[in-house]
Amino acid sequence: MESLNNYLLKYKGYVFAKGETTGEYIDSLQHFEIRDSDIFLVTYPKSGTIWTQNIINLICEDATDKTKFPNNLEKMPWLEYREGRPDYSLRPSPRLFATHLTPTLMPPGLRDKRGKIVYVLRNPKDNAVSYYHFSLVWAKLETPKSFEDFLQQYLAGNVGGSSWFDHVREWYSKRDQYSILFLSYEDMVMDLRTAVEKICKFLEKNLDDAAIAHIVEKATFRNMKKDPRANYEFIPGDLLLKPQFMRKGTVGDWKNTFTVAQNEMFDQIFEERMKNVPLHFIWDFDNKTN
Ligand code: PPS
Repeated sequence: MESLNNYLLKYKGYVFAKGETTGEYIDSLQHFEIRDSDIFLVTYPKSGTIWTQNIINLICEDATDKTKFPNNLEKMPWLEYREGRPDYSLRPSPRLFATHLTPTLMPPGLRDKRGKIVYVLRNPKDNAVSYYHFSLVWAKLETPKSFEDFLQQYLAGNVGGSSWFDHVREWYSKRDQYSILFLSYEDMVMDLRTAVEKICKFLEKNLDDAAIAHIVEKATFRNMKKDPRANYEFIPGDLLLKPQFMRKGTVGDWKNTFTVAQNEMFDQIFEERMKNVPLHFIWDFDNKTN
C-alpha cells in the first residue's frame, strides 16, 4: 500500500483510510466465495449508505436479529473492513454486506450474477459537501483547511473511496455483469416508499402494505436519527468527534457551501468526466416532505 498522506493509502488504484484494512485482506476478496443469497450494498462514501443499510436490514429482519446484532453495522458489516469480526465465510445466510469498493476489488463471483447488489448514488455536489462535513468530525480523516481545500482533494480522487466520478462510471458501465439495482439518494428523499418497494422487489421480498409502511416510517431522517441501532451514535467519541452520520439529509445543501466560481468549475468537470454516462442527477428540489 502506498501512503498518500498521514491518513490515506492507495492500493490497486483505490484510496483507503490508513489502519483500517490491509492489502492482503483486500486481495483475499478475490477468493471470497459468493452465495446466491448474499446482498451487497455498494456506495461511494456519503451517498446514503447507512440509510439504505437500515432499509435493507429492516426488509431482511427476522425475529432474532435484535438479540444477534447490537446495531445495523453488525447485521450488515463492511466487506473491506472486518474489524476483528470472525471470518465472513462463517456467517449464516443470508449475508448482508456494505462496501465502498470498486468492481475491480470486489469478489469476482458476483459477476456471475450470483448475489445481489444495491448501488446507491448521490449528486456529487451534495456528496462533496456531506463528505467535507464528515471529514471535520471523523478522527481518521485529515481535517480540511477549508471547503476549497477539500474540494480540490475530492476532485483529484484523493479521498477515501477515490474518485466519485470513477466509482459511479465504473459501476454503471459494468452493470450488465451483475444483478444490480441502481437507486439515487435524491429519489429516496423524494419518494421513500417507492424506493423501499423497488428494493423489496429486487430482493424478491414480498412484504405487505403494513410492513412496507413500517419500514418507511423507521427510515425517515427524523426517526432514524433517534434510532440507536441505526444512527451510528454507537461509534466511540474518540473516532467520531461529533455524531454527524445523520447531519441534514437533504438535497441541494451544496448551494449553501459552493461559491459561484466553484460551481462553474464543478459543472465543467462534471460535463467532461460524465459525458458518456447517461445517468440523470437531481441537484435541487423542495425537501419539505422528508
Ligand atoms: S458513510 O460514512 O459513507 O457511511 O455515509 P453515508 O451513510 O453514505 O452518507 C451520509 C449521508 O446520508 C444522510 N442520511 C440520510 N438522509 C436522508 N434520510 C435518512 N434517513 C438518512 N440517513 C442518513 C446523512 O445525513 C448524510 O448526508 P448529509 O448531507 O451530510 O446530511
